Amino acid sequence: MGAPAGDEATALCSVVLEARNGTGGKAIMTQSASVTVKTLADIIEMKRIYSVIDNALGKTYPACLLVTSGARGEGKTTVAAGIAAVAATHSTKQVLAVDLNWFKPALHEWFGLDPVFDVGTFRNNGLIKDIAQTTNIANLDILTASPPREGMTESAGSEYMLGTEIVTRARAEYDFVVVDASSIFPTNRHMMDPVTLSKAADGVVLVVLMNVTPRQQVKRARMFLKTAGANVLGVVVNQWKNPMAR
Ligand SMILES: Nc1ncnc2c1ncn2[C@@H]1O[C@H](COP(=O)(O)OP(=O)(O)O)[C@@H](O)[C@H]1O
Ligand SMILES: [Mg+2]
Repeated sequence: MGAPAGDEATALCSVVLEARNGTGGKAIMTQSASVTVKTLADIIEMKRIYSVIDNALGKTYPACLLVTSGARGEGKTTVAAGIAAVAATHSTKQVLAVDLNWFKPALHEWFGLDPVFDVGTFRNNGLIKDIAQTTNIANLDILTASPPREGMTESAGSEYMLGTEIVTRARAEYDFVVVDASSIFPTNRHMMDPVTLSKAADGVVLVVLMNVTPRQQVKRARMFLKTAGANVLGVVVNQWKNPMAR
């Protein structure tokens, strides 16, 4: 259910984790899997990534983790879905996965849901739990994104504020909130800026596609986040396109 279509659904799933603070060191594993959100929760790399993030966050909850990247298509949504699924499956936390990539919503696909966001209920101070949807994983809810531009009559500036408010309110209702954000580049006035959103999160991970993402772009993205005051926990290196990993 909800697995991305095509070859990618059965592609080699391989990630390398590098985290700072010496909390996790480096883990390199590969695994072939028919990838659904349930199988993501059992992929060893995902468990390792979650474990390092858990440590880097000081095991202090509630917490919000923001997943972003320098460019598009590097694996943000896959990593965000995986971390949320691991946390819900292998801990006792109430977990919420939030799609704040309103420019290109995708998280819903992992769960076979439509991209809808009840702006009216949100504005009327309704509970996030009432707006969110349950998933086929116990203790994991998902807050899908608004279809692009629908329901959004405000300026881009207030979209930033809306994103920050969603994060703040979600964090008050769940133990662990995992945000699937847009990429940092290229900037687009219709997106919720991940750099601005990062300040509302307790930690940020940058997803990098090995042998694809230019080093300078990773450095720039990290610098933007740091300058904004984000707590950059580390980098998840997704090497699913790396022929050396096969
Ligand atoms: N490790 C991986 N193994 C297999 N497919 C992957 C992996 N990482 C990403 N993909 C595929 O690559 C595409 C882009 O990944 P996605 O997570 O949507 O990136 P982003 O959110 O950064 O745009 C998706 O079709 C996804 O299924
Ligand atoms: Mg995505």
